[in-house]
Amino acid sequence: MKVAVVGVTGMVGQVMLRVLEERNFPVKELIPAASQRSVGREIIFNKLAHKVVSVEEAIERVPGIALFSAGGSTSQKYAPLFAEKGTVVIDNSSAWRMNDDVPLTIPEVNPGSLKKHPNIIANPNCSTIQMLMALAPLHHSYKIKRIVVSTYQSVSGSGVKATRQLQNEREGRYEEMAYPHPIHNNCLPQCAEFDAEGYTTEEQKLLNETRKILDDYSIGVSATAVRVPVTGGHSESVNVEFYNDFDLAEVRSLLSKFPGVVVEDDPANNLYPMPVNAYGRDEVFVGRIRRDFSQANTLNMWIVADNIRKGAATNAVQIAELLLKQ
Ligand code: A2P
Repeated sequence: MKVAVVGVTGMVGQVMLRVLEERNFPVKELIPAASQRSVGREIIFNKLAHKVVSVEEAIERVPGIALFSAGGSTSQKYAPLFAEKGTVVIDNSSAWRMNDDVPLTIPEVNPGSLKKHPNIIANPNCSTIQMLMALAPLHHSYKIKRIVVSTYQSVSGSGVKATRQLQNEREGRYEEMAYPHPIHNNCLPQCAEFDAEGYTTEEQKLLNETRKILDDYSIGVSATAVRVPVTGGHSESVNVEFYNDFDLAEVRSLLSKFPGVVVEDDPANNLYPMPVNAYGRDEVFVGRIRRDFSQANTLNMWIVADNIRKGAATNAVQIAELLLKQ
């Protein structure tokens, strides 16, 4: 399999390479691509140096799969050009996610979505992926009515510049700003831009992507997305109301059995998911599982995952694996 990684010099692109290596994805030829600025630079894959090429050259070499993480406008422009030539694009940006013909896939949750595609497949938003990894097995048993979610998102989700801002501010230097405010010692109730109603795009994604992935447009989602001074790993406080009542032991069992989910829930021993532990891991961690006594059929949970791994690179490579199997 000839595999292109478009955006290979970026934060997610680099982790895509590591995940391809770790999972022994059958890469016969790697085509690392980035912007014109990086053409000729060397990157390491499977202990060998590879020269970065332009996106145009990557298209001409007709890879079987192109993993994209180079921003929305790059995907918008180049994904159709790859697709025309027969390359299947797996795109990490939000450019194609809500396109009706494009599958929006979490392999453990909706593998059937890959049956038909226009050679473009969208990787969901990081916050949506980890939330639905924990909610999908429960939805199948109890049917979700409404979700209230607050996110605690790390700076790695905003890219290299934001990570540098946090690091600089930790060392007392307030210089280059990726955010409109300091992030060290702070929390920003803003992830991306606001719409006319006062919601951010990140919050809208949690609603729209949840409905598309679970193929249930009746589900309500009320989201507040918050950026916190954590280097890597997103956390989410989730309150979910079901149509049907649940048994807590059964909830734990459903979650434990779901592939890719790890239940870490032993409050007596201070055991619950935390970003410092989830960082660098591919699983989604769930804890603080408890009944909400203020309302019938309602559950509270705390969900943590590495947003660059399961939230981006790992999920994309898993989609590629599933395509190969099919
Ligand atoms: P480059 O390093 O050459 O700018 P991040 O989100 O971590 O900033 O990474 C973005 C990735 O997308 C980088 O690999 C970057 O390449 C790539 N990229 C940005 N703009 C373009 C573009 N116009 N064409 C191709 N790749 C791009």
